[in-house]
Amino acid sequence: MSATCVVGLQWGDEAKGKIVDFLSDEHDFVVRYNGGNNAGHTVVWGDRKFALSLLPTGILRSHMTAVIGNGVVVFPPKLLEELASLKEAGIDAKDRLRVSANAHVIFPYHVAEDVECGGKATIGTTGRGIGPCYSDKVNRANGIRVGELLNPEHLKTRLSDIIPRKNKVLKALAQDPDKVPQFEVEKVWKEYAEMGDKIRPMVTDTAMLLHDALKDRKKLLFEAAQGSLLDIDHGTFPFVTSSHSLPSGIWSGTGVPARQLTRIIGVAKAYTTRVGSGPCPTELTDGPEGIGERIRKIGREYGTVTGRPRRVGWFDALAVRYSAALAGCDEITVMLLDVLSGLDEIKVCVGYEYEGKKINYFVSDGVELAKCKPVYETIQGWSEDISKARKLEDLPVQARRYVQYLSDLIGLPVSVISVGPDREQTILNKISG
Ligand code: IMP
Repeated sequence: MSATCVVGLQWGDEAKGKIVDFLSDEHDFVVRYNGGNNAGHTVVWGDRKFALSLLPTGILRSHMTAVIGNGVVVFPPKLLEELASLKEAGIDAKDRLRVSANAHVIFPYHVAEDVECGGKATIGTTGRGIGPCYSDKVNRANGIRVGELLNPEHLKTRLSDIIPRKNKVLKALAQDPDKVPQFEVEKVWKEYAEMGDKIRPMVTDTAMLLHDALKDRKKLLFEAAQGSLLDIDHGTFPFVTSSHSLPSGIWSGTGVPARQLTRIIGVAKAYTTRVGSGPCPTELTDGPEGIGERIRKIGREYGTVTGRPRRVGWFDALAVRYSAALAGCDEITVMLLDVLSGLDEIKVCVGYEYEGKKINYFVSDGVELAKCKPVYETIQGWSEDISKARKLEDLPVQARRYVQYLSDLIGLPVSVISVGPDREQTILNKISG
């Protein structure tokens, strides 16, 4: 039995796609269990670059069956667009994609609600309709699942009930009621029934598919979207996403029980980034000539989905230790280490000052975390370009010490160090914590 989970330990964008791609060879199924097209996963193969937001990254590998589990929210235009762009790049993936009939569907009114009714303005959401779609799922009366797209008459009945209600809600809640879009049942129905027909061959009971795969001794790779600190329950609420990005989401979001997991790999950057609103205690706000801007430029820290510049800060060991514990990680990976080359000194947050005391644990409440000031240890940097390092010994001693230090602080081995976006720019090594 083998089931691996790759999960981000910060606020998303930890370069999980690269690790998933790396592990693809040894797995048969790649499974997404949470989020939707708010995620941004980039994989670089030589001069080819793929950016996916809804499809699991592992779909790029022709031996893999890719699964969109019931815990994902599906925006059908994006699903079809990503399949088409893969086809253009020579990857025909539609026969290898399975979409849960129980996954909920994002409609244009969800996007309008997210953008016009506060989500984007207060939480800094990606504006993709994620929160409103999950709200409708939990609220039930307005939620529509992928399986329902396959029955046009039924879909029309549902939309005829829901859309007039949604139009009223949008008018009532929009910051600018005169500008908020209104939706026509007939138009939305036609578009979605048509898309439903296109995705029909891919729709199935993915929970049973995965259980059968496990019985056949197939190897499953679960690909988390977003980071653990954006988890709806354990993240920095309210500045979080609407799903369970921690591996706890696997059970409910795919139907595969947690005890099937044999390996949980936590992915962390060598520094911190965050997009959208919410506290980030180690954020560097040292201006256009500062270290924050330098890391942003070298690390190309701009959102894959929205293009927004990411907020950048030093590594926060309290945050990663918290996430790794909640995720149940066996090991961690340190990504984008090359981005820190050329800094004389590197800071690592090892404590917070909170309500007049020094504490050594993470504060997960978003409002309380904003009151925490980082306490740093400073360690020596390195000047060498490390992007060509392929084994631990190729790294300057200071870079090795830095990784060892992170491993010690988190209390877990570091199994992979990434020194560039390409698959080759990877050091496989066990640094024990
Ligand atoms: P939502 O997921 O669009 O509702 O956005 C909620 C918060 O999660 C915002 O701060 C987003 O910027 C953040 N977020 C959502 N998806 C990602 C991701 O894949 N990477 C990083 N941040 C994300």
